[in-house]
Amino acid sequence: MKPDTTEILISADEIREMVARVADDINRDYGDRPLLVIPVLTGAFIFAADLVRLLKMPIEIDFMKVSSYVGQSSTGKLTISKDLSVDVKGKDVMIVEDVIDTGFTLSLLKQMLVDRGAASVKICTAFDKPLGRKVDIEADYNGITLPDVFIVGYGLDLDGMYRDYGDIRIVKDNEEQ
Ligand code: IMP
Ligand code: MG
Repeated sequence: MKPDTTEILISADEIREMVARVADDINRDYGDRPLLVIPVLTGAFIFAADLVRLLKMPIEIDFMKVSSYVGQSSTGKLTISKDLSVDVKGKDVMIVEDVIDTGFTLSLLKQMLVDRGAASVKICTAFDKPLGRKVDIEADYNGITLPDVFIVGYGLDLDGMYRDYGDIRIVKDNEEQ
């Protein structure tokens, strides 16, 4: 059964405004301090690409692929399938996420980067679903707060699909198909 993804929750224009606002906040807080940006693959690749082009400090980018998600429900277990190529020691790090739900992924990842000796580790997320939270973790920079709905688009997927949508859509089961 193919899910219905026709309902737009957040438009591409609203997303653009959100990214500009988050970038302004980061620029204000960091000034000229160099930043190591770590987008969490795969979901954060579009947000990170938009965001770094608006940041004004010297930027280094390296990716991690971690997951704690299967289908529509979290497992709470972190699997690292691509680690960093750079050393985080002594660097100011910004983890860039697509969405925070339970918070398992980020709390484990943040702790790992702190343990490796990063000077600071902050979290920037495009979307936040605080109602889904199971561990105590908050983003330092949050784009848009959402209710507890499953979304796709702007990098976010359902079983690998729909990441290419320029807007954010709600996923509904389609009884007609
Ligand atoms: P958490 O560990 O539960 O916070 O999961 C965060 C990760 O789960 C995100 O980086 C996404 O990859 C995925 N995820 C959580 N909610 C959604 C959603 O609504 N749509 C698509 N992926 C989601
Ligand atoms: Mg993800």
